[in-house]
Amino acid sequence: MSKKLVVIGLLGTKLDHVSRRKDRWQQWRPTVAACQQPDLLVDRLELLFDRQSTALADRVAADIESVSPETSVQLHRLVMDDPWDFEDVYATLYSFARDYPFDTDREDYLIHITTGSHVSQICLFLLTESRHFPGCLLQTSPTGRQRGHSDPAGMHRVIDLDLSRYDQLAKRFQQEHRESQSFLKAGIETLDPDFNALIERIEQVTLATTSPILLTGPTGAGKTQLAKRIFQLKRNRELVAGDLVEVNCATIRGDQAMSTLFGHKKGAFTGATSDRPGLLKAADGGVLFLDEIGELGLDEQAMLLRAIEEKRFQSVGSDDSTASDFQLIAGTNRDLIAEVRAGKFREDLLTRINLWTFMLPGLAERRDDIDPNLDFELARFAESAGRKVSMNRESRTRFLAFAADPSTPWRGNFRDLNAAVTRMATLASGGRIGVEQVDEEIARLRHDWGLGASDGADHHALLEDVLQPDQIDAIDHFDRVQLAEVIRVCRRSKSLSAAGRSLFQVSRLAKQRPNDADRLRKYLQKFGLHWDAVSTEPTAR
Ligand SMILES: Nc1ncnc2c1ncn2[C@@H]1O[C@H](COP(=O)(O)OP(=O)(O)OP(=O)(O)O)[C@@H](O)[C@H]1O
Ligand SMILES: [Mg+2]
Repeated sequence: MSKKLVVIGLLGTKLDHVSRRKDRWQQWRPTVAACQQPDLLVDRLELLFDRQSTALADRVAADIESVSPETSVQLHRLVMDDPWDFEDVYATLYSFARDYPFDTDREDYLIHITTGSHVSQICLFLLTESRHFPGCLLQTSPTGRQRGHSDPAGMHRVIDLDLSRYDQLAKRFQQEHRESQSFLKAGIETLDPDFNALIERIEQVTLATTSPILLTGPTGAGKTQLAKRIFQLKRNRELVAGDLVEVNCATIRGDQAMSTLFGHKKGAFTGATSDRPGLLKAADGGVLFLDEIGELGLDEQAMLLRAIEEKRFQSVGSDDSTASDFQLIAGTNRDLIAEVRAGKFREDLLTRINLWTFMLPGLAERRDDIDPNLDFELARFAESAGRKVSMNRESRTRFLAFAADPSTPWRGNFRDLNAAVTRMATLASGGRIGVEQVDEEIARLRHDWGLGASDGADHHALLEDVLQPDQIDAIDHFDRVQLAEVIRVCRRSKSLSAAGRSLFQVSRLAKQRPNDADRLRKYLQKFGLHWDAVSTEPTAR
């Protein structure tokens, strides 16, 4: 069943008024013409008019019936005191739209805009754009005037305000989204699909809301950095006029916290020699970034909650309240739900700020992104040190293999990566980071993370000595650890049998004729390896 076509239009433009005249059939009259379009069969016209136009409405309805008998015209008299008063016209049309029984499953709606007062056009446009009128705009206009004759039917154009349907515009919007997302990522071409989806969502929320945003995640995951970029993106898009006021809550614990945040009156306490407005006031019209919000004291939390909800708060020693309207961005590496359970964080405040919560993953959860981040860190070093440093292919591969190894924890996340690159780049001779710097750095990181000598990176290095990268890639982490340890033992052992004895130390006791060498040979064969390859250390790299 095809849908019915319903046009909604407002009567009363000067051109509709020619309906009184005899020659009206030669003239273009917007409302009649809307029902005269050969390729636009209007099933129903909802004709809105004001009190002064009652007689005109009847005449126009009669004329439409004669030119387009299939169109049923419904007349709606509106009560508008002043057709030039924006508020009045908008409110009247808004009420009409709200009460109208739209049935979009069965009917398509076209909202007629044409000549006439700009006030009504703007109101119809706004209500269509906001989907109070769930349809497209119908723009009608006369034709051929310049050629001395006018077709009374004129012409029409349907305008869909869902701009994403216009290919060219959609492309520009997408481009703009890509640019903002790239800005949030500091231009780093991240590959991790989950992380990219997270950034996409953050971009959407950044541009759409002034509600609180909570950034969680492990230390060094980039929360502070991201909060600043969120603000800057809002600023670039002129979505915020005020400043970014940053507070690290860990640094304002104790007596000073209240007055730092909420300000104080002169004389409120000893030492309060003058009024202090406080940071919440400074953030008025802007963004307040409360970093490490988990460190905030319970009293301050209660005041903050009120300040967010009421956009007012009382400064220390003052009876009056101060107004401040800001967007809150909070950061924390604590589990705030656990903090609530432990009585250290107010549940009501958490509920209030837990609206747009984004959990930033640690580096270990997005290992594919270490590669582009390595370039980013090298570029950062070049900028701050004033000299360019690069990595040769071998050292890069080695560092990335270590970085990607599941047993490399990246506990300090970007801080670790940043420190690693800074150290390697500083020690690099001739502007090139060599294998020695990489090995030294790997050892250092592993030491800092408290890892034993037989952990990840060593595994990888051992496997690399005897297998090709694609062969290593095809082995489960589970097996890699075991195989690496087997190689280590083989290197220490004089013979295949000796290595086997050491490796099967327990199980061999249960066998009558333990054949350790054979067991070990078969194990190695599974990986295409043999004794000679695993027993000798390769010559220095
Ligand atoms: N996406 C990123 N890519 C590369 N480096 C980053 C990124 N985000 C942050 N960094 C760098 O990593 C370091 C730590 O970032 P940041 O201070 O934002 O982490 P954080 O999550 O706030 O940590 P904490 O919980 O300890 O406050 C900074 O030097 C920052 O410049
Ligand atoms: Mg931080």
